Amino acid sequence: MTAARARVLVLGGSGFVGRYVVAQLVAAGHFVSVLTRRRARARHLLLLPTVQVVEGDPYDAATLARHARGMTAAINLVGILHEHRRATFARAHVELPRLLVNACRNNGVARLLHMSALGARVDAPSAYLRSKGEGEMAVAGSGLAATIFRPSVIYGREDRFLNLFAQLARWLPVLPLAGANARFQPVWVADVATCFTRALGDNETIGARYDLCGPAVYTLAELVRFVAAASGNLRPVLALGPGLSSMQARVMERLPGSLLTRDNLASMQVDNVCDAGFPARFGIEPARLEAIASEYLAPRAQHSRFDVFRAHSGR
Ligand SMILES: NC(=O)c1ccc[n+]([C@@H]2O[C@H](COP(=O)([O-])OP(=O)(O)OC[C@H]3O[C@@H](n4cnc5c(N)ncnc54)[C@H](OP(=O)(O)O)[C@@H]3O)[C@@H](O)[C@H]2O)c1
Repeated sequence: MTAARARVLVLGGSGFVGRYVVAQLVAAGHFVSVLTRRRARARHLLLLPTVQVVEGDPYDAATLARHARGMTAAINLVGILHEHRRATFARAHVELPRLLVNACRNNGVARLLHMSALGARVDAPSAYLRSKGEGEMAVAGSGLAATIFRPSVIYGREDRFLNLFAQLARWLPVLPLAGANARFQPVWVADVATCFTRALGDNETIGARYDLCGPAVYTLAELVRFVAAASGNLRPVLALGPGLSSMQARVMERLPGSLLTRDNLASMQVDNVCDAGFPARFGIEPARLEAIASEYLAPRAQHSRFDVFRAHSGR
């Protein structure tokens, strides 16, 4: 279906996962066009050969059509964890996939890879997961040759999840933790990117939805203890009960950066773990978190970790 050397339009390519997906697509010999709302955010991609970064409004149908024309495939990585003014879940997770589907259909782009999230369902307990579920429906019912990915939390050098807890362990003597018993099965960003790249040329993946998880399940408290130890700031973790968790989220969602919202807490009501092993189709043994994360969380990496945090907060 997709030529050995595909021409791929990527939305959300400037972000954490996008960095890895775009790099792997380039390494596989594809041409990649990244549509971003702010070119400066994607400047780290400019050094890669066969990548073009174009600035434009992805919600504008004419803009999307212009950039879809001549492409063989599209990849949608757009996602938000918190709503903010016009950046609503409905707009980013439902309206945008619909617009992209239309742009693909009208411009001969047959192949679409779509990033959703583990637990996405139209009747999920959080607005984030419900909107991701609706986005999946738009893609699955599009008539395009689509593949959907549903990862658990994704970790890697530039992640905001483990790096955030490493920063908190640096600043706070005790780590008060909402949703401490919530279970996750984190997956390495490079493994996720490999799935996208391999799926692009693999017709057997058309019409499939893949849950993506790493090899081990952890509670949030276990993850935070690991992060604190790996970053050289051993701290006691104070598990908050439901009442205090909700109160903490209420406060934190008002702070700049919305580190935690009540909707995030609602997502954690359902375990974020996979029912089965890593999809055999991609021929990957998913990486162990301890091996990868210890390296970038180590105290000697603190300086670059601070840079990552600062870059994200300045968005
Ligand atoms: N990170 C995780 O743990 C995780 C877990 C499960 C699923 N996912 C999903 O994986 C995808 C990528 O996540 P990520 O961690 O790479 O996120 P990220 O670093 O925040 O990047 C998201 C990208 O989406 C674009 N974007 C952000 N807000 C937008 C908005 N309101 N409207 C249009 N575009 C917007 C941005 O592109 P521009 O600013 O360049 O336009 C950005 O490059 C998302 O769909 C996310 O839901 C992530």
